Amino acid sequence: MRAENAELYEANTGLHCVATIPVASDQSDSFSQYVESILELAELCKPVNGFEWQKKLALCLDGEPGRILREQIPRIDLRRQGAYFTSFRLAKRVAAAAVSQTITPKVCDPACGAGDLLLAVARKLPLQPNFQDTLGEWGRLLSGFDISGQFVRLTKARLILLAAKRHKIRPPFDSSLPLDPFPNIKIGNSLTPLRHMSNIDVTIMNPPFGYATAPADCDWASGRVNAAALFVDRVIRDTPKGSRIVAILPDVLRSGSRYVTWRELTRVSGSVLCEKPLGLFDKWTDVDVYLFHFEKGLNLDKYCVGYPPDQATYGVGKRFSVHVGPVVPHRHAETGPYAPYINARSLPSWGELTTIKTKRQFTGPLFEPPFVCVKRTSRPDSGHRAIATLVRSNKPVAVENHLVVLLPKDGKIQTCRKLMCRLVSPKTDRWLNARLRCRHLTTSAISEMPWWYKP
Ligand SMILES: C[S@@+](CC[C@H](N)C(=O)[O-])C[C@H]1O[C@@H](n2cnc3c(N)ncnc32)[C@H](O)[C@@H]1O
Repeated sequence: MRAENAELYEANTGLHCVATIPVASDQSDSFSQYVESILELAELCKPVNGFEWQKKLALCLDGEPGRILREQIPRIDLRRQGAYFTSFRLAKRVAAAAVSQTITPKVCDPACGAGDLLLAVARKLPLQPNFQDTLGEWGRLLSGFDISGQFVRLTKARLILLAAKRHKIRPPFDSSLPLDPFPNIKIGNSLTPLRHMSNIDVTIMNPPFGYATAPADCDWASGRVNAAALFVDRVIRDTPKGSRIVAILPDVLRSGSRYVTWRELTRVSGSVLCEKPLGLFDKWTDVDVYLFHFEKGLNLDKYCVGYPPDQATYGVGKRFSVHVGPVVPHRHAETGPYAPYINARSLPSWGELTTIKTKRQFTGPLFEPPFVCVKRTSRPDSGHRAIATLVRSNKPVAVENHLVVLLPKDGKIQTCRKLMCRLVSPKTDRWLNARLRCRHLTTSAISEMPWWYKP
């Protein structure tokens, strides 16, 4: 067994690793040959042609490891290990959030892969007077783990090459350089307790999105869950108060009903500073992702997704009970008493409905006006997301399934009108576009909608 695999087995004593044998662990495959070529480049003691050097450097520092991995390693293995490296575009977003507040924070990537996120951070770190001192300082500030020894070695080599590029120097490198300038970037399983995180200012990550088994002490789920949620959980437990997480996470953690408790428990430990949808991860990976920025121990008591907390009080759900219309026309037989009936097509958008001409028989629940009806389907990023009508007729109404009913808890028309002003506000459209990427509005998203002070 190679030394790095022995280390890995030691790191994997916990049961919750996404993959147990890392991809690209065989020395003979072409990805390993690529890694060796990059390591050689970072250790060159002989002069090189300037043009060749610049070309190799540019490729290796921008997306080349991910491309070669995709070409060389079967998709199924990449998926099992979650080995999808972050593009330059997304890595830049992470770095901008990670190093904007403190100038030289201690940064850790617990699933560092080939180091694309650490490189993006290192691009923003100040240079020291010389190459050697820069490596020393970066080595002190940057740490990371990965289950793959190949990836760990590639990360270190690429950081050395980036420092060389920024200092505008090229081989031969000084033979007195430290053998390993990045001792805190190591092989390790980050789903087991992270002993070295107690002095970390910012954790950056794009963790694996595959499924892993929730540990026995997991208080929000059991069985198989998205590994990214477990990574965030682990980091929150092991980092100090005041430390931040800037992560690229799968959108399902932000919007999926399976992760409601995870979201709630995360917010008990600190505050979400930003949840920004970023669209597809990249053109090869059909997964929507978002930027998650979190600070442990921070208490922003007026929570509001993606907006400064002082712009909203508490959600719509405090003032209204939210229901989906129960009538499914093709499923429900027309039996029982007649009642006034509304569907998505019959409602005047943003108007007030005082008389309802259409009637139908229905044995299920009816709604007593006044209430606000919202169309359930609307397209993200185009016009209003929650198109509403105030219903103020005088008899209980049967409501079709494509509508959401918001019943004011105080029973007042005035409260319904206040809601209409908020629903028509562009702030609400932006909030809903950030909260949901699908066309259907959910009752939970509507209940969580902020009640703006000034719509
Ligand atoms: C999605 S990649 C991200 C890599 C890098 N941070 C980036 O953004 O390009 C996730 C990485 O996590 C590693 N990984 C998977 N399970 C892990 C575990 N239990 N502990 C540490 N790393 C793990 C994989 O080898 C892979 O390199």
